[in-house]
Amino acid sequence: MRLRGKSALITGSARGIGRAFAEAYAREGATVAIADIDLDAAQATAKAIGSAAYAIRLDVTDQSSIEAAVKAVEAKTGGLDVLVNNAAIFDLAPIVEITRASYEKLFAVNVAGTLFMLQAAARSMIARGKGGRIINMASQAGRRGEPLVAVYCATKAAVISLTQSAGLDLIKHRINVNGIAPGVVDSDMWDQVDALFAKYENRPKGEKKRLVGEGVPYGRMGKPEDLAGMAVFLASDEAEYIVAQTYNVDGGQWMS
Ligand SMILES: NC(=O)c1ccc[n+]([C@@H]2O[C@H](COP(=O)([O-])OP(=O)(O)OC[C@H]3O[C@@H](n4cnc5c(N)ncnc54)[C@H](O)[C@@H]3O)[C@@H](O)[C@H]2O)c1
Repeated sequence: MRLRGKSALITGSARGIGRAFAEAYAREGATVAIADIDLDAAQATAKAIGSAAYAIRLDVTDQSSIEAAVKAVEAKTGGLDVLVNNAAIFDLAPIVEITRASYEKLFAVNVAGTLFMLQAAARSMIARGKGGRIINMASQAGRRGEPLVAVYCATKAAVISLTQSAGLDLIKHRINVNGIAPGVVDSDMWDQVDALFAKYENRPKGEKKRLVGEGVPYGRMGKPEDLAGMAVFLASDEAEYIVAQTYNVDGGQWMS
């Protein structure tokens, strides 16, 4: 029960990695807002987790939705202790085919969504005066470019940079901002990644996913649950002295 009595909000937690974090946080004693643009899925996830979870409709690209979500958490639990900025979207295309619309959408969700969600949470935490934890989902894609993945990689590099700046700025309020960089994790997002690679690299569906799994030193793709230990640790008292870091949790992928 390392998060006993804590109030957490996890963006994009209706499914995938965010859902695994919500399940782990609830097991560790936290109350968790399942905050997602897909309210039906968020409600189903909250119901499956039980009384420690509740659903909120949140669009991280909409400032009024961000502020309403933080207010909803304050009203429900008395204040926000932990924010996980997990919501993100993916797209890929060769440089010469990238559209402005795709670029703007990815930066709106992955970068502006992370920054302004973080800002609203920090304002709430500062006003309450009890510090807090903010965990941003980065990616190995933020550590280096990839030929077809320029925009998504750039958004995740921005998340790592924002984690550094916000971490340095907010620690004086005892708000620790850190990040997690997964490698390849089997989720709905990776099904979309696989379908896009199938199109651009002319592969059968499922092949890219199989190959990337085989390329991970651990021997398989990550599962959402593989990331949950780090998310619990960074939200716990044990991580009090950790500031502005982004940790790889990737089965050895980044080192290989
Ligand atoms: N799956 C991977 O291999 C992988 C690797 C590295 C990093 N990541 C990162 O981990 C995080 C979770 O990834 P996942 O694979 O679970 O993704 P996913 O696509 O399975 O789930 C993302 C969730 O975010 C929600 N969402 C999308 N736009 C939103 C918005 N505007 N406002 C609120 N919610 C929104 C979706 O409804 C969905 O429930 C993301 O930040 C992703 O970039 C994933």
